[in-house]
Amino acid sequence: MSADPGRPVVLVTNRLLEPAPSLLAASCEVRTMPEGGPRTGEAIAAAAAGCVGILSQVTDTIDARVLSIPGLRVVANCAVGYNNVDVAAATAHGVIVTNTPGVLDETTADAAFGLIIAAGRRFGEAERLLRSGGFDRWRIDMMLGQDIHGATLGIVGLGRIGTAVARRARGFGMRLLYTATRRVAADLEAELGAEFRSLDQLLAESDFVSLHTPLTAATHHLIGERELASMKPTAVLVNTSRGAVVDEAALARALQSGTIFAAGIDVYEQEPAVHPELLRCENAVLLPHIGSASVRTRSRMCEVAARNLLAVLAGQRPPNPVNPEVLD
Ligand code: GLV
Repeated sequence: MSADPGRPVVLVTNRLLEPAPSLLAASCEVRTMPEGGPRTGEAIAAAAAGCVGILSQVTDTIDARVLSIPGLRVVANCAVGYNNVDVAAATAHGVIVTNTPGVLDETTADAAFGLIIAAGRRFGEAERLLRSGGFDRWRIDMMLGQDIHGATLGIVGLGRIGTAVARRARGFGMRLLYTATRRVAADLEAELGAEFRSLDQLLAESDFVSLHTPLTAATHHLIGERELASMKPTAVLVNTSRGAVVDEAALARALQSGTIFAAGIDVYEQEPAVHPELLRCENAVLLPHIGSASVRTRSRMCEVAARNLLAVLAGQRPPNPVNPEVLD
């Protein structure tokens, strides 16, 4: 079937959840790619030739090859993070990039808190023990972990998701430290009972460290060998941000040598590959990037991405531009 010349052609790189497909189909010719990923810029550029919009996902590399497609106006990334998109190239080519902030904060914070508990209390190891027939009787010293309540939580990046984690920590009676590029407003610090620290101070003082920073050149391998060595041997590291914020090889060594107690990880540097040494760590709870994966939130993320794309095509300001200078 040939495209209706009156309707803009858009590329949807992977399956979306309703209502996004219906919203797009109402006013666009929707081109799809076979399910899959991670996808190279080359593959996406080939599929997107002639498209004015792309609705992308975190598994897609949106590089200069894609962004220089003649007529392309918008890349709506279905995620809050957009490290998979070359935003500078987009801006240079006048392509608007959008993301999906806000709708996934609480769900991702739930996942981060789940990892704090699961890693601290050794739920992964304990479940594997039971399933492998190792639960022969109750023992006084079986699967001893670290208490969450009353412990000190260090939050790296007190943005929307970090703040949502902080609110949960208050319910557990945790002491709260945070580090960020800038201190947050004094009233938010007071509401959360959060004390500002340098990264080094936070790592040294915290029992749990939860990462909520975007991946940028400045945060690449923010947590490496030196940082892990400065944590307490009883400490737990949780990462629901982006894999490359942590040096995975250094983390695996720290877990194996007892430099830190445990880790709860949802994101990986070379997804879907997981560092083989991390897979060998019993004291790591490893999830397959499901931080925002609730039925409601993933549907809302798809909807927000679709609405951003449609707004640009309708000549309106999209709700969540990442490079608003293109609009201005
Ligand atoms: C998921 O990882 C996101 O950035 O939304």
